[in-house]
Amino acid sequence: MAAASDTAEPGASLRTHLRAATMAAHDLLDHAMQAASGWQTRDDYARFLALQHAARAPLETWLAANAPEGLAPPVQTALLAQDMERLGHALPRPAALFTLGRAGPGTALGAAWVLAGSALGNKAIARQVARIGGGTWPDAFLGDEAMMTFWHGLRAQIERPAEPAEAAGATRAAEAVFAHFLAAAEAGRAALAPDEKVPA
Ligand code: HEM
Repeated sequence: MAAASDTAEPGASLRTHLRAATMAAHDLLDHAMQAASGWQTRDDYARFLALQHAARAPLETWLAANAPEGLAPPVQTALLAQDMERLGHALPRPAALFTLGRAGPGTALGAAWVLAGSALGNKAIARQVARIGGGTWPDAFLGDEAMMTFWHGLRAQIERPAEPAEAAGATRAAEAVFAHFLAAAEAGRAALAPDEKVPA
């Protein structure tokens, strides 16, 4: 759902470029997360939050160490922990470590775009969760206003054309973050059905 096309016009903004480059990965991730948890029941929703926590923890660590001033999105693992505690669920183990090596041009921006952009999807999911849970399920993560504020600030930095090196660095980082989330979703699905073979 991230973009309407998988190729960006020359001279397009960095945001358009990133959306086009990761459209297929986003669709794949959307499906993988529905398969690994979804949010149709309270237990599904708790699994969804656990998966988000497992994936985001190492990303937040990498960004805290590598993102320049103003490019590290607000931390959300604390909100996820709060929601899970309210649902009476223990915190998961973090997913595998995440690294992009040393940050180059565009790297932190690309990673920040994926995390901040996901707040758009979270808004839509929050509406569904409010309906399904009758307004009783905790939504500190899905309704995180700090991430929406960060997202609005980030737009000025991505809604402009970028130099090729910066665009390439941002794209590489964004693809790596989507791949990292996808691996966490696949691990979640495998844990759900240990006997089922996860396709390569
Ligand atoms: C769990 C299932 C998910 C659903 C149903 C979903 C849904 C959406 C929706 C509705 C949008 C807004 C599209 C628009 O208004 O143009 C969006 C955008 C986006 N989502 Fe997701 N999303 C999901 C998971 C994720 C995850 C886990 C990530 C990050 C790891 C992510 C990253 C993004 C990004 C980067 C954008 C584009 C931001 C932009 O417009 O620049 N999404 N998603």
